[in-house]
Amino acid sequence: MATILITGANRGIGLAMARVAALRGDLVIATARHPEQAGALAALSEETGRVSVRALDVTDEASVAALAAATPEAVDILVLNAGVLNSYGGLSDAAHGADAWRDVLMTNVAGPFLVTRALLPRVEAGEGRRIAIVSSIMGSNAGASGNAYPYRASKAGAVNVARNLAAELKPRGVAVGAYHPGWVRTDMGGGGADISVEESADGLMRRFDALSMATTGVFEDYRGMMVPF
Ligand SMILES: NC(=O)c1ccc[n+]([C@@H]2O[C@H](COP(=O)([O-])OP(=O)(O)OC[C@H]3O[C@@H](n4cnc5c(N)ncnc54)[C@H](OP(=O)(O)O)[C@@H]3O)[C@@H](O)[C@H]2O)c1
Repeated sequence: MATILITGANRGIGLAMARVAALRGDLVIATARHPEQAGALAALSEETGRVSVRALDVTDEASVAALAAATPEAVDILVLNAGVLNSYGGLSDAAHGADAWRDVLMTNVAGPFLVTRALLPRVEAGEGRRIAIVSSIMGSNAGASGNAYPYRASKAGAVNVARNLAAELKPRGVAVGAYHPGWVRTDMGGGGADISVEESADGLMRRFDALSMATTGVFEDYRGMMVPF
């Protein structure tokens, strides 16, 4: 039985990963920006008795510090899943203004860094010693296709953060990976996406279990296929 902390767990892939983990017997610390509105997490907690819901906005350092203070448990797997996608357009997309860049980069790049920094002592206290950053194949430079600039740049940045954390934390025995969850039917992925949240979450959890000091720094998808940087 592991303890797994998942950010952005109130809906989408994060919620599905919380369900997979709780149903297999793990203890889940599930974070949400607004726990009082996280009805699906409350129901999962009621159903399984294995989910603790805590507040976290990954862009707010006070919120990150408050989560760390409210988390005395050792964390075996830290999953940085919270993310935003503002718009799919190109250079002329009006939604790609400075505020959007700030929001997307803060959430998708700085968020995993700040949460890792605050929670690292809890991860080092655990036996799993794994950190998983949910990035995207849209962050692969090999697949650059001239659109969704803030999101693509942010997900490339998230992989870069994962790679640097893997290097810095290797001597401390903590493994770090970056993951593409597939194109998933969520609010972000849309109803026409390829796979269900269940398939993505099940695959991602298997990949997190497989992460080791031998594979630290990996960038792979939910099936274990390597994604080019
Ligand atoms: N769906 C896909 O096809 C797909 C593909 C590739 C990668 N991804 C990545 O997979 C992850 C999950 O995506 P999803 O499809 O499940 O997205 P989603 O349904 O839009 O859910 C996003 C989650 O992130 C949370 N979040 C956003 N900003 C936050 C912040 N500042 N602090 C804390 N939590 C915040 C949201 O909370 P609120 O409810 O409060 O907004 C929500 O729980 C993201 O990192 C995404 O980029 C998704």
